[in-house]
Amino acid sequence: MAADLFHLGWFLGNSFGVHGWNQLWGGTSGEDWSHPDLHVDLAKAAERACFDFVLLEDSVFVPDNYGSSMDFYLKRALRAPKNDPLPLVPLMAQATSRLGLVPTISTSFYPPYLLARLIATLDLMSKGRVGCNFVTSTAERAAQNFGLDTHLEHDLRYEMAAEFVEVVLELWSSWDADAIVMDRERGMFVDPAKVRKIDFKGQFFSSRGPLNTARPPQGQPVLVQAGNSPQGQDFAAKRMDAVLCAVSTVEEMKAFRTTMRKKVAAAGRDPDSCKVMYVATPTIGESDEEAWERVRRRQAHRKAAPELALAQMGSLTDIDFSVFDIDAPIGELTTNGQQGTLKRFLKQGATLREIAQNYKYSYEELVGTPDKVAGQMAALMEEVGGDGFVFTGNLTRRYIAEITDGLVPALQRRGAVRRAYEHQHFRDNLLGF
Ligand SMILES: Cc1cc2nc3c(=O)[nH]c(=O)nc-3n(C[C@H](O)[C@H](O)[C@H](O)COP(=O)(O)O)c2cc1C
Repeated sequence: MAADLFHLGWFLGNSFGVHGWNQLWGGTSGEDWSHPDLHVDLAKAAERACFDFVLLEDSVFVPDNYGSSMDFYLKRALRAPKNDPLPLVPLMAQATSRLGLVPTISTSFYPPYLLARLIATLDLMSKGRVGCNFVTSTAERAAQNFGLDTHLEHDLRYEMAAEFVEVVLELWSSWDADAIVMDRERGMFVDPAKVRKIDFKGQFFSSRGPLNTARPPQGQPVLVQAGNSPQGQDFAAKRMDAVLCAVSTVEEMKAFRTTMRKKVAAAGRDPDSCKVMYVATPTIGESDEEAWERVRRRQAHRKAAPELALAQMGSLTDIDFSVFDIDAPIGELTTNGQQGTLKRFLKQGATLREIAQNYKYSYEELVGTPDKVAGQMAALMEEVGGDGFVFTGNLTRRYIAEITDGLVPALQRRGAVRRAYEHQHFRDNLLGF
């Protein structure tokens, strides 16, 4: 496979929540929000386009940051209602045969044994196509749903996350790959010599082991992370196979990649063994003019409703932005929530109004016809040298088609992305180039 190919993924923000209920092209997504059809359609389309993976976001709280009330969020179906995304994984796996599937799990609230078993089960069910996005969960309200009065401190959460991953890895290794011998003559399904306890005793977690299901087909399902703070990057550098990076400028991409590769090397690993992928939201049109018109409409909408961006950012950073004067200089703020995200948010303007108007969660400078955007992406990879992109944006079937049936074929014609999967396992496809 050519060395200059890059990888593609889809970051499904708001996951198994409500998508496009009041938008053009939303179809029946409002009525059908709790059914898996849209997600299965996304999985099939992503596989047709030979994506590496679809990542399913998750959060475990109803936000009440903006105006110290749940009203703003519930009225607009922002982050609630939201189903648990894990049950989507087998359904999406059943509808595909090569696509990687990455559910999100909280290292602060999920017991590592259950997580190791769940992901191993899914990896066995999908024949080696599952990964896991490890998040520390950042909201005070999430912590309170799990019995804490106040959330664990940001850096401590990452220390716990690192140990969490070690337990999980040991549990996955508690069965040898050839432990299941299914020897009918000797009456032996499992060779007991190939299964052992782990007796893990750490600072935060203990687990005796072994796992009570077999070793996952990938050995190690794909480990993904998206932390932005120095602690988040350190955590990723140690073990992760892919890191997702949400930045809005080329300079930020370069800086993130340089830092990440240094940290991976310092952890004693080959920097190429940890893929850095940028979160992108392209705007595609039948003509460049049409695409730019869509950008202008989006900007006008942001200008008319700055509170939407402020409420969204509030739920990520655990800050009530409604208490500040929207037109006064905002200065420095601190949080125990998403620190990297807050830092980036504050850089986008001097006042909250400016920040809300400029607000970009991901890289949005990809605008034009499918071929134009394909050229921009290829040029970007050349300049920055990253490993690929994960698309995000409001989920409608139209947007899925724009990306998978419009943009990806244009990328394939340029020889920038794969036209066929080479391997059965997600890990092998991701690390194959
Ligand atoms: C692409 C992407 C996906 C993420 N998915 C989730 C998620 O599903 N659930 C969650 O609680 N946090 C999610 N996060 C937040 C990160 O885990 C992390 O908290 C955030 O980037 C801030 O980094 P920091 O905590 O190191 O400051 C995501 C971030 C990015 C960029």
